[in-house]
Amino acid sequence: MRHALTRQFGTPEDEWEFIDKPNCPPMVNNLPKDTYLSLSHSNGLICFAISSSSIGLDLEYVLANRNYEALSPLVMDDEELRIITRNKNEQANNFYRLWCAKEAYYKAISRKKQLETSLKNISIPTLISDRKQWFLYEGKNQQFQLSLVVKNKPEIIKCYHYPTSSNEQMFTLTLSEEFIV
Ligand SMILES: CC(C)(COP(=O)(O)OP(=O)(O)OC[C@H]1O[C@@H](n2cnc3c(N)ncnc32)[C@H](O)[C@@H]1OP(=O)(O)O)[C@@H](O)C(=O)NCCC(=O)NCCS
Repeated sequence: MRHALTRQFGTPEDEWEFIDKPNCPPMVNNLPKDTYLSLSHSNGLICFAISSSSIGLDLEYVLANRNYEALSPLVMDDEELRIITRNKNEQANNFYRLWCAKEAYYKAISRKKQLETSLKNISIPTLISDRKQWFLYEGKNQQFQLSLVVKNKPEIIKCYHYPTSSNEQMFTLTLSEEFIV
């Protein structure tokens, strides 16, 4: 995180003042004004986002053989359940896309709103179709699903990789404009 912050803003790596607080996004005392951060880690990979508007991201290692039809009613609304049950071949893919988008949205909203929100009540098809509120970007590689929800549509998204030799883990993020199943 220090490395990424320094690359973005120039302040020396050891000058960032991290505050460790549970159940919070990463907190840095001396960030430039209107800077938002989000962090996610899964199976040895870490993703860290720096943004000029509220942002949340979620990374998940995709496990192909889970019982998605049993898990889904706990966290998906009716429309999402239909998406999961409709296409058996894409079940793992659709489950992780919806799950990661929900977690990313949850991380992006204020603490006050988080306390009033349950994953089941976050509708990802609605979030995608209501383009004025939030923007969902998704990336996938062989093993991981990465989802990012941001308040203002970014003019540009820059992706960096550390260490730079492991480029096979790179994600290409694309804006989700429709939940195609
Ligand atoms: C907090 C939560 C979003 C973390 O997500 P996760 O997939 O378990 O873990 P990730 O690696 O993606 O994210 C962890 C990071 O999120 C950040 N984070 C933690 N709580 C956060 C919050 N309330 N808001 C935003 N970011 C948060 C921290 O930076 C954390 O990193 P750290 O553990 O190194 O401090 C998740 O556990 C959660 O509570 N989700 C929604 C609430 C809910 O309904 N939970 C029940 C799930 S069955």
